[in-house]
Amino acid sequence: MGFNSKARTPLFACIVLLLLASLLLPQPAAGSSTAPKVTLDYYYETLCPGCANFFVNHLIKLFDSGIHSIVDLKLHPYGNAFVLPNTTILCQHGPYECLLNTVEACAIDEWPELNVHFPFIYCIESFVHEHKHTEWEKCFEKLDLDPKSITNCYTGERGKKLELQYAAETEALQPPHQYVPWVVVDGQPLYEDYENFLSYICKAYKGVAVPKACREQSLNTIRTRKSKPRRPVCYMEEKSALSARIRSAIASWMQKMNMGALL
Ligand SMILES: *[C@@H]1O[C@H](CO)[C@@H](O)[C@H](O)[C@H]1NC(C)=O
Repeated sequence: MGFNSKARTPLFACIVLLLLASLLLPQPAAGSSTAPKVTLDYYYETLCPGCANFFVNHLIKLFDSGIHSIVDLKLHPYGNAFVLPNTTILCQHGPYECLLNTVEACAIDEWPELNVHFPFIYCIESFVHEHKHTEWEKCFEKLDLDPKSITNCYTGERGKKLELQYAAETEALQPPHQYVPWVVVDGQPLYEDYENFLSYICKAYKGVAVPKACREQSLNTIRTRKSKPRRPVCYMEEKSALSARIRSAIASWMQKMNMGALL
């Protein structure tokens, strides 16, 4: 067994030469450190059931799989809301949705690190998913986070400013979003195939340090976009339906203001 000493010497020399060559030759450009991350943009609104479902049951797989290491994830909590000319924002599922959209926008702004804001938003989305969204404030305690900065943000000008920024970003989408959840990988919307987002991320990644889960993903499952989404999504409303909704929303909003209720 093994090499005799006569055979070992040339083999050893070969290995040394190969090592030297690998050190001296220019490295390929697609090294793990230089490959750009795949951008993943998630456009959603807090009270759309399909969005909470996607967040809690699918988006979380990004972390379970380790694929988050090659992803630059950005959350955009705004969805199908609408900005009136005087900058009042109307949300598809009413004022409570506007409130939670703003809370989540504030969390992203206040805690820019994904490992801080993501668990907080995940916690809120879990409450929404369980139809207990009014209990969202428990998330501060659950995650041992100080509510002060977030409260200052969503009750004040900062929160409003952030939501108007998300409004502008969402309205600038090309192609425009048709419904939420709306998932965009490297600038390309996935349409109804959004639950398959991990495959698209793996396919888009140009680096050599491919996460193990990507190799296990069957990339040939990427389907063509034809059918309507099977999941309950929230569509952008028709213009006429929208203006009727705006009128009734304004009426109820004014009523609430008269009663001194918190918007
Ligand atoms: C914005 O306009 C709506 C409808 O015209 C009105 O009900 C609301 O009071 C206005 N809000 C502000 C902040 O001026």
